[in-house]
Amino acid sequence: MTDHRTRSHRYWDTRHRERDDLASGGHIGLDRPGNEIFYAQRLGALLTLIGDLSSPEAPLFVLDAGCGKGHFARGLARCGHCVDAFDASPEAIAQARTEGGGPRYTVTALTDFRSPWPYDLVLCVDVLFHVLDDAEWAAALRNLASLVRVTGRLILTDEDTTGRTARGTYILHRPTAAYRREIEPLGLTHTRFQPYGFRENLVGFHVFTRTR
Ligand SMILES: C[S@@+](CC[C@H](N)C(=O)[O-])C[C@H]1O[C@@H](n2cnc3c(N)ncnc32)[C@H](O)[C@@H]1O
Repeated sequence: MTDHRTRSHRYWDTRHRERDDLASGGHIGLDRPGNEIFYAQRLGALLTLIGDLSSPEAPLFVLDAGCGKGHFARGLARCGHCVDAFDASPEAIAQARTEGGGPRYTVTALTDFRSPWPYDLVLCVDVLFHVLDDAEWAAALRNLASLVRVTGRLILTDEDTTGRTARGTYILHRPTAAYRREIEPLGLTHTRFQPYGFRENLVGFHVFTRTR
């Protein structure tokens, strides 16, 4: 494992152990009501992107990659979707499993998750800009893209910028063009950017749709 990766895993496991269910995966600078709003607003935006259909006979198969304590995974399961979810932090997954609520959880990394079936939707919320190593980031994108079925979507989050911006010691925002360069040759097209629109936060949902 690279130094970056070991440090990152240690950071997240500690944060998941020490912070409550929202601050551990949400915004560390917000109080609890602030994080409630941050999560509720993003779940609403996600549901708008995904659509409002939900059928017990034909649920959407969703993968939440880097699910933390499972907030979005549980929210989508409550809406009738069939959700698999994983995170590299054993602490986060232990707490997510305790909450229950439908999703099936695995402890693994973005580059290592494998599935016998493809997904209608692969979701990766506020994870990729925490992957500082470019080779690991690119390998993660390739793996996530490989898990999306034809016409399915990969929804990941970052800013919509033209340059690289490091914030603090554990955030690296990459330009939209860098995401497109990795993902589009794999048969997915960048179809939309939907900003969170939450206070001063510049991050939003990048939607990639598999067209071939
Ligand atoms: C800001 S939290 C977001 C958690 C969740 N998506 C949410 O929005 O509540 C970032 C998460 O990414 C996970 N993570 C970081 N690097 C990862 C990697 N390489 N593979 C899988 N998970 C990773 C961390 O353990 C942490 O749970």
